[in-house]
Amino acid sequence: MIGFIDLRSDTVTKPTSEMLEAMFNAEVGDDVFGEDPTINALEQKGALLFEKEAGLFCPSGTMTNQVAIRVHVKPGDEVICDQSSHIYNYEGGGIAANAGASVKVIHSNRGKMTPEDVLDCINPDDYHCPVSRLVSLENTSNKGGGSCYTLNEMLDISKVVKDNGLAFHLDGARIFNALVELEEEPSSLGKIFDSISICMSKGLGSPMGSLLLGSDAFINEARRVRKLMGGGMRQAGYMAAAGIYALDNHIHRLKEDHRRAKEIADVIMGLSYVENLAPVDTNIVIFKLNSEVNADAFLQYLEAKQILAISLGPQMVRMVTHLDIMDEMVHKIVETLKNTP
Ligand SMILES: Cc1ncc(COP(=O)(O)O)c(C=O)c1O
Repeated sequence: MIGFIDLRSDTVTKPTSEMLEAMFNAEVGDDVFGEDPTINALEQKGALLFEKEAGLFCPSGTMTNQVAIRVHVKPGDEVICDQSSHIYNYEGGGIAANAGASVKVIHSNRGKMTPEDVLDCINPDDYHCPVSRLVSLENTSNKGGGSCYTLNEMLDISKVVKDNGLAFHLDGARIFNALVELEEEPSSLGKIFDSISICMSKGLGSPMGSLLLGSDAFINEARRVRKLMGGGMRQAGYMAAAGIYALDNHIHRLKEDHRRAKEIADVIMGLSYVENLAPVDTNIVIFKLNSEVNADAFLQYLEAKQILAISLGPQMVRMVTHLDIMDEMVHKIVETLKNTP
């Protein structure tokens, strides 16, 4: 009995019994006093993996991004990012509200900025203009359909960022999807970025939590900002234990999510009611229905067959594979798609 197949996002996963056991057995303490051994261990583990000096555990990826931005910029400064970025579209206007900064967006292909794009956006040293202070890159790009930057592409952008004296932030909510797909190492990223946000609650399958990584000085300041935003937690080591379990056990299996996404995409490509399909690099499948099919009606039809997906516009549909999507489910998904009237 398969039951509902939830392809709306990789955030919908439930902890496995092994992860729950790790959480249940966690040693905890008061993290605001710095006394939660499991949170301390997760922060150190993340920092070590990405070759950064220190880490900070936060409740969400929105908070790690917003804390980082607030530490990097002053009111009146400008943040440069792609127009599809999560920090710009889906964090409640936090860049303005939390940091008092403006944003200059780049209109790039599938969420992937180039060094030339970034260079074009950096303001001259002229007191009429906001000070360009921070560049934020999203890898993989959520709205860009899970597209990934290679290490060399990120390195090339970082040269422009550093040559111009700006800070460089990575929204790596799904960075392990990119690293696993391209067979690259997290340790190389520490040198490229000043700050890195990684979500435990997306493909890695934890119930909550994100890590912010940076230098000792950056993380000290970030800890203060996390507190002022209300993100100082107490015995949250139970959640950190899920994060440690996920880093130890759920990274390499992301390849299976990518394989399943590609299997679904291969079928979608041949469907008469699909106008086009975005390239599928990782675990996100985005496609456009032809003009006779409305996305909401299509999603209702799928829901009646116990398959959930989301619409990204009147004709656009998104499906995301994750830890709780198994091969027999993929079989049901493709058969249902093929037999859609
Ligand atoms: C690219 C990206 N960054 C940040 C976030 C924010 O994470 P959270 O939902 O934990 O706040 C998300 C959430 O989907 C995301 O896709």
